[in-house]
Amino acid sequence: MDPHQPLSIRRFDARDTDAVVALWREVFPEYRNPDKPHRDPHRSIANKLATQPELFFVAEHGGEIVGTAMAGYDGHRGWLYSLAVSPSLRRLRIGTRLVAHAEQALTALGCPKVNLQVLEDRPEVLGFYAALGYRADAVVSLGKRLGMPETA
Ligand SMILES: CC(C)(COP(=O)(O)OP(=O)(O)OC[C@H]1O[C@@H](n2cnc3c(N)ncnc32)[C@H](O)[C@@H]1OP(=O)(O)O)[C@@H](O)C(=O)NCCC(=O)NCCS
Repeated sequence: MDPHQPLSIRRFDARDTDAVVALWREVFPEYRNPDKPHRDPHRSIANKLATQPELFFVAEHGGEIVGTAMAGYDGHRGWLYSLAVSPSLRRLRIGTRLVAHAEQALTALGCPKVNLQVLEDRPEVLGFYAALGYRADAVVSLGKRLGMPETA
């Protein structure tokens, strides 16, 4: 990363769509899996732009989108999704800054606790969140599709 170029974290803009989709397809295997057509990054972005778009953040460096974080607050808990950092720019605290930015935005809304889910096959991500103070809750995560294609 060029130390002379600042890293900025800002709200997602529709003009970032192509860059964010490219980053997600690189970082999240499900977004490039032809067996999972319901995992459509464009639909995920469109849905987020319709619901709390102010909680969708990108990290920008040298004119490039190098990270994303998506948050939501339902009035009881906050949630964090789609945290991604460009593979070539890992371990430079970009993920830490994205999470801190999302946490600050949730705190400003009065959110008392943020939850997130980590896929079982990504144990290294648990190391990242542990470094940021996240601890496993004694819960089993359940889910159910509601008659519409999965979008997130
Ligand atoms: C998880 C992710 C966002 C971390 O981003 P990052 O910018 O590289 O993380 P940071 O530089 O802020 O890391 C902060 C600390 O977290 C820990 N950490 C980060 N990545 C780690 C890894 N792969 N293994 C173990 N610990 C890790 C370290 O303690 C690190 O501090 P250090 O570099 O001084 O040792 C990034 O690896 C990523 O995009 N992964 C793929 C997408 C993904 O799985 N997202 C999470 C969905 S739930």
